[in-house]
Amino acid sequence: MHKIIHLAPSILAADFARLGEQVQEAEANGASMIHIDVMDGQFVPNITMGAMVVEAVRRVTQLPLDVHLMIVQPANHIEAFARAGADRITVHYEADPHLHRTIMTIKALGCMAGVAINPHIPALAIDAILPFVDQVNVMTVNPGFGGQEFIHEMMSKVADIHAMIGNLRHHIDLQVDGGINTQTAMSAAQAGANILVVGSAVFNHQFSVTEGINRLKQALATI
Ligand code: DX5
Ligand code: ZN
Repeated sequence: MHKIIHLAPSILAADFARLGEQVQEAEANGASMIHIDVMDGQFVPNITMGAMVVEAVRRVTQLPLDVHLMIVQPANHIEAFARAGADRITVHYEADPHLHRTIMTIKALGCMAGVAINPHIPALAIDAILPFVDQVNVMTVNPGFGGQEFIHEMMSKVADIHAMIGNLRHHIDLQVDGGINTQTAMSAAQAGANILVVGSAVFNHQFSVTEGINRLKQALATI
C-alpha cells in the first residue's frame, strides 16, 4: 500500500511556555497540520483554549490549523475561530442539532468543515452529513484529555466510514484522534485513516518533538 498518512500534532500535550517553538519544530519535521483542541468544560469535562491561541499559533507557522471544537453550541463560535486563522473547523455530531447548517456556515467562512464522532456513535449516524463535509474525525478515546488509551474496537468503524467515503465522488479526509502512538498508528492507517492526530506521542517530556515525529514516521514506513 502506498498511501500518504498525514500527521496532525495536537498541541494539547505541548509545553505551553514554549508553544511557538514546539509548533515550529513539528512543522520542520513534516507535520501536515497543527491540531488545536478546544474544550469548554461542558461538552467535555476539561477546559483548554480558545480563539486567542489559534491566533497566536497562526503567527508562528505556515501549516494549516485544524481546530477541533469540543464545545456545546459550536455554531456560536465558528466565526471567531475562522477569523483567528483556522483552516479546518471540526464540530461534534453530538453537540449540534443543526449540524448541516453549521457545516455550511464553516464552508461559507472559507474553511474546510469536519464532523467528529464520539466512540458510542455508529458510522451510519454520519451518512447523511457525509456528502457535505471535508473531513471526518473518529474519536479513538472519549474526548476531554490527552494521553488516554486507544480504543481498538473503533477500527471497524473507521473501516466502515472509509468505505462510505469511497462511495462518494469526492475526497474526504478521515482522521483518527486519541491514543495514537508507534503501536497504534499502523492499525489506524490500515483501517483507512489518512490523518493521524497525535498529542502525547509528539509532545511529551520523554523525547523531543523531532524524535516523536520520526518514531511515528518509522512505525508507518512499511505501509
Ligand atoms: C482528545 C483530543 C485529542 C488529544 C489526543 O480529547 O481531541 O486531540 O489531544 O491526545 P493523545 O494523542 O495524547 O491521545
Ligand atoms: Zn482532537
